[in-house]
Amino acid sequence: MATTTSRAVALVLLSCAVVFISSCCGVGAAKAPKRAKLFKDNDFLSCLASGIPARLLYTRASPAYGEVLNSTIRNLRYLSSMAGKPLYIVTPTGEEQIQAAVVCGRRHNVRIRVRSGGHDYEGLSYRSEGPEQFAVVDLSKMRKVYVHGKARTAWVDSGAQLGELYYAIAKASPKLAFPAGVCPTIGVGGHFSGGGFGMLLRKFGLAADNVIDVKVVDPEGKLQDRKSMGEDYFWAIRGGGGESFGIVVSWKLDLFPVPPTVTVFQIPKSVKDGAIDLLTKWQELAPALPEDLMIRVMAQGQRAMFEALYLGTCTTLLPLMSSRFPELGMNRTHCNEMSWVQSIAFIHLGKRATVKDILNRTSSIHAFGKYKSDYVAQPIGKSVWETIYRDWFTKPGAGVMIMDPYGATISAPDESATPFPHRKGVLYNIQYISFWSADGAAASAAPIKWIRDFYAFMEPYVTKNPRQAYVNYRDLDLGVNEVAAGANVSSYSSGKAWGERYFKGNFERLAAVKAKVDPTDYFRNEQSIPPLPA
Ligand code: FDA
Repeated sequence: MATTTSRAVALVLLSCAVVFISSCCGVGAAKAPKRAKLFKDNDFLSCLASGIPARLLYTRASPAYGEVLNSTIRNLRYLSSMAGKPLYIVTPTGEEQIQAAVVCGRRHNVRIRVRSGGHDYEGLSYRSEGPEQFAVVDLSKMRKVYVHGKARTAWVDSGAQLGELYYAIAKASPKLAFPAGVCPTIGVGGHFSGGGFGMLLRKFGLAADNVIDVKVVDPEGKLQDRKSMGEDYFWAIRGGGGESFGIVVSWKLDLFPVPPTVTVFQIPKSVKDGAIDLLTKWQELAPALPEDLMIRVMAQGQRAMFEALYLGTCTTLLPLMSSRFPELGMNRTHCNEMSWVQSIAFIHLGKRATVKDILNRTSSIHAFGKYKSDYVAQPIGKSVWETIYRDWFTKPGAGVMIMDPYGATISAPDESATPFPHRKGVLYNIQYISFWSADGAAASAAPIKWIRDFYAFMEPYVTKNPRQAYVNYRDLDLGVNEVAAGANVSSYSSGKAWGERYFKGNFERLAAVKAKVDPTDYFRNEQSIPPLPA
């Protein structure tokens, strides 16, 4: 589905994959910036310049501004014609500089958006839909990973990409792994803040489920850790969506044992080969399989691709598949045995990819795209799948459905254990993707119409009251019809329209935490958590 374009991002140099965090949990307030030499007195930049070297600060007039801004824009829709660009970009190299940015931003009424990997589907980490002036704190220079193999833990900076994390873990110990997203260029900061799942979700749950400590610069500019911030605040940042509660600097993770050999298969089936019957069966089968086996489906055109990761060898997978899913016709020729870290490269980048390729910061998908999501709790009937393939995948602009089965570990926690509520009873998540390869309204009209119309068609077949959605698959269409024109989109009652879809009953608790931590709503974007009214 990737469409590569030469206008895409500038190369950001890759730092060494396994390095060490210098200090882990000092807690304190940022020093008030004192001097103002380079910039006009009393403005945001002069405030910053006393605490942050000028080479890490960019204004729209800086020659490198465009290159830095574009460096991790992953949705090309927002690359060229982007309105709502930041006034300033700050690329901190340490937590004190992040603290200084927050202190100066508050003092000079400049809001801050934070960007880790830049994968936000609506670009909210670096652009605004409204007229507000803001600065971006871009964490791409803060990417350290420290793995403590014996303790089975790791500290990772928010600006690291998942590939860097996976690589560092495997290098420290090939027997360890961490459950997070499939695409190696995703940033840790945004991904963990919204939950984060990939091929290990059935075995180990979400990334956010396995965070055991954090360092956060809070909305006052103070550095907090789990102990100092308290459990409510700690709860909120593990799945409540990025940027409502401050800037997460780094995360402490529990790591998990994996066998030395895992098995991957990718079996494409056409509609003529029975894809619809297989998909119909898969819906109830996949969430009920043993937790060591994850089979997801990509449906597009007249095809369904069944892609699996099994935590074991082909020899033990074969009897499991022939007893549980014989119709798929899986046999030894489909088995690709490898290490867990190699499976990351294989699944995302293909058979020939090497483990080092997951460190590549420019190898991600580059497309103009619109994305939406759903959750399914009742299997969708065969006749509906027939309609989808016959009427929807043949339309102009038709895109892709990616379906990830839940069940096992991801479904085990109580719905309120973390802000991510999509647990018991969920069969699978659907991600809808429409994409196009050229800028402008002519190229985007059909794909955008397709995804919105198809989403409307799917309503009877997915979760209801609320129709659930995954916050990491950001969708600014959500709640649009329920929110009055001109309303402050982040206010509590209008925020419920999208907030309850992402968080169900947890939205109110998130808003209560927000009211405590950031009562003036300094950290906000178009879908940030609003403070609960008193
Ligand atoms: P980005 O930097 O754009 O941030 C996203 C949001 O988090 C923004 O609101 C931002 O302000 C905020 N934020 C970022 N860093 C923060 C920090 N340090 N502290 C506080 N807030 C912060 N998801 C998934 O679960 N599984 C998957 O397999 C995939 N696959 C995938 C592939 C591709 C190609 C894309 C583009 C996206 C995905 N995703 C995904 C979705 C992905 O998890 C989601 O977009 C994350 O928010 C991306 O995090 P980034 O840091 O890269 O984004």
